[in-house]
Amino acid sequence: MPQPTRPLARTYRGTTRNLAFLASRLKEGEMVAVPTETVYGLAANALNPLACAKIFRAKGRPRIDPLIVHIHSLKELPLLCKPSDTALRLAKRFWPGPLTIVLPKTEIVPDIVTAGRDSVAVRMPSHPIFRRLLAQTGLPLAAPSANRFGYVSPTTAAHVRDGLGDRISYILEGGPSSIGLESTIVDLRDPNRPQLLRPGAITASELEKVLGCRVTRGGKTAHPTLAQLAPGMMSRHYSPRTPVFLHRYLDGCAPVKEAYILIRRPAKKTAANVFWLDEKGSLQGAAQSLFAVLRRVDKLGFSKINVEMAGGGGLAEAINDRLRRAANW
Ligand code: TXA
Ligand code: MG
Repeated sequence: MPQPTRPLARTYRGTTRNLAFLASRLKEGEMVAVPTETVYGLAANALNPLACAKIFRAKGRPRIDPLIVHIHSLKELPLLCKPSDTALRLAKRFWPGPLTIVLPKTEIVPDIVTAGRDSVAVRMPSHPIFRRLLAQTGLPLAAPSANRFGYVSPTTAAHVRDGLGDRISYILEGGPSSIGLESTIVDLRDPNRPQLLRPGAITASELEKVLGCRVTRGGKTAHPTLAQLAPGMMSRHYSPRTPVFLHRYLDGCAPVKEAYILIRRPAKKTAANVFWLDEKGSLQGAAQSLFAVLRRVDKLGFSKINVEMAGGGGLAEAINDRLRRAANW
């Protein structure tokens, strides 16, 4: 028997009328995919456990993987967590922006959001259209990246539609994400021992300058606790379906069955199996296009994707972190 099909998600431009409509859907416990400066997120009322449960179902995400809560203004922070002076210093310097801070949570945050932990991850995004939606909704919004669990994060509304179009109803259009990589996550449960859980556009050394102390780097995985809780669970994070192999340098590329992704456009005319992340090799440009290029190349039927790693520190660290996960290291 044919299965009843769900209507495909509709994409809404950020007009005043659409924002009012989407805010009302969020208040009623529905999910809305939203643009952010890092990647697109799948948002729901963070204070409503049933609404948050829908996110896990739509993404196929295990309930042990906690969600990030997005706020519009600093005033909302004490509602969700107990911010230390150290946390406030980081918030004042980097918010709104691509930084997520993990802090001891308050009673009001449902267990489903934090996967039962006594801490909550909070971020104030800078994307202007998402900020207007947050203001209209007047609620903190829990939002993981808007992709099927384990696949590459979405940086356009079309990517969201590709992965979740038959599982959600509403997508807010906000153009391509300007940063292109998920936020930096810093664990400040102990303000004297800040820990970097996930590298992002805000680098560990930028955090250290504001904090005046060392930020310890998490292990190879940005999900140390989660990896311990669920060994193997995270091994296919951010992965295309085609196997990915990493290289320090790539130049002349041979087998036509394999794809090659370089950081910078090569000087010589290239074959159809050669792709690049940025015309001039800028790391900002490479970060911005990384997920879109991986998604595009993943659809082309190559037997392997060979990718050149980024050189240098800072943003290169975040790019290489995502590449390692894509390659299943
Ligand atoms: O840029 C971003 O952060 C995007 C946009 C949508 O804001 N969101 C995002 O969410 O990347 P997601 O779910 O794909 O990654 C969130 C990660 C979790 O996998 C977990 O590792 C970490 O944040 N996290 C959340 N709550 C945590 C907590 N209480 N303690 C430690 N880590 C936590
Ligand atoms: Mg994600």
